[in-house]
Amino acid sequence: MKLEPFALERNQSLWEHEVEINLTESGVSPVTLGELMDDPRARPDLFDLKLGYTQTNGTIELREKISSDYKGTSAANILATNGGAEANFVAAWYLLHESADRDELVVLLPNYMQLYGVWKNLGGRVKPFHLKMTSTGWAPDIDELEAAVTRKTAAVAICTPNNPTGAILDESQLKQIADITYDRDAWLLSDEIYRGAELEGPKAPSAFDYSQKVMVTSSLSKVYGLPGLRLGWIATSDSQTAEEIWAYTDYTSICPSALSDYLGTIALSDDVKTRLEQRAKGLVGAHWHIMKEWLDKNSDLIDAVPPKAAAICFARYDLDIPSLELTAKLRMEKDVLIVPGAHFGMENFLRIGFGYDEQKLREGLRRLADLLRSLS
Ligand SMILES: Cc1ncc(COP(=O)(O)O)c(C=O)c1O
Repeated sequence: MKLEPFALERNQSLWEHEVEINLTESGVSPVTLGELMDDPRARPDLFDLKLGYTQTNGTIELREKISSDYKGTSAANILATNGGAEANFVAAWYLLHESADRDELVVLLPNYMQLYGVWKNLGGRVKPFHLKMTSTGWAPDIDELEAAVTRKTAAVAICTPNNPTGAILDESQLKQIADITYDRDAWLLSDEIYRGAELEGPKAPSAFDYSQKVMVTSSLSKVYGLPGLRLGWIATSDSQTAEEIWAYTDYTSICPSALSDYLGTIALSDDVKTRLEQRAKGLVGAHWHIMKEWLDKNSDLIDAVPPKAAAICFARYDLDIPSLELTAKLRMEKDVLIVPGAHFGMENFLRIGFGYDEQKLREGLRRLADLLRSLS
């Protein structure tokens, strides 16, 4: 079977280090090692760290810190992974492999397309249900979900806060999704990697609180500005499942890197975690104003439902040019990289990341407006 490529990641991998202005990043600007270890007393310990294999599902200290975000759990409910990418991969592999007679994944679209692609590439069947643009924002089509989930459904996969829209599923939407899923005895698989990067208000609700059969995947890559650590996790509603999925990471990466486990434990210690979360909220809030000003100024060319979380804006343009062609033109003529809506299966949309450098964001937006205007 031929591999269906992960178009979004492939395109970023090819160009993100070639272009002058990269607006494809969905998280906030990475922190330096110095910023993370801002207590100089901790530094000598870093140099004493033995770079051996770690506890392969993550050290107990790390997993305890991760578990503090999921009510009623302990380290035993957590499996540490290499990034959210490995968390999603092994969750999909486990669910497809272990769900007897069930080979369907019902996926909320638009979405970061990893689970969609992995499931298909592993030989499973994928059924969509959609986030629809309404007058009050993006909302999941619950009727479509109800019709899609069957006794063949192994899991329902959601992403909240959502990539690419920045929409948050509220408590009542999560409850409805969780109830429908549980009713058909399927797993709820929720990618919550952007939880904690809300533009305002409290942390987005977690699917973890709405089902007894739930897995949440996440990582330090987006909110905490630490994508280079490649540290992620799966939190499961029962510890037995976390242990079973652990057997799958024996085949993929064996363990998280010792350095990442160590630094991840520091990042998730109470004071550093709060500091990094505040940093993320500060960045998304401030840079959203730049985006919003630009959208208002160019409202004859492009518009967007404001995101509620994550440093991404999913904007719609009204021109007769496919998003792949438009973004290729932008890269070749203006040296700016953004993500075409086509990579989320949505034409006439563009995903613009606004969490990194402010000056580059302003200049990239200026060049994008120039291009859109020249085509209109
Ligand atoms: C929704 C979502 N899940 C997972 C990932 C992968 O995260 P990581 O870099 O931690 O592997 C991404 C990366 O963009 C993402 O947007």
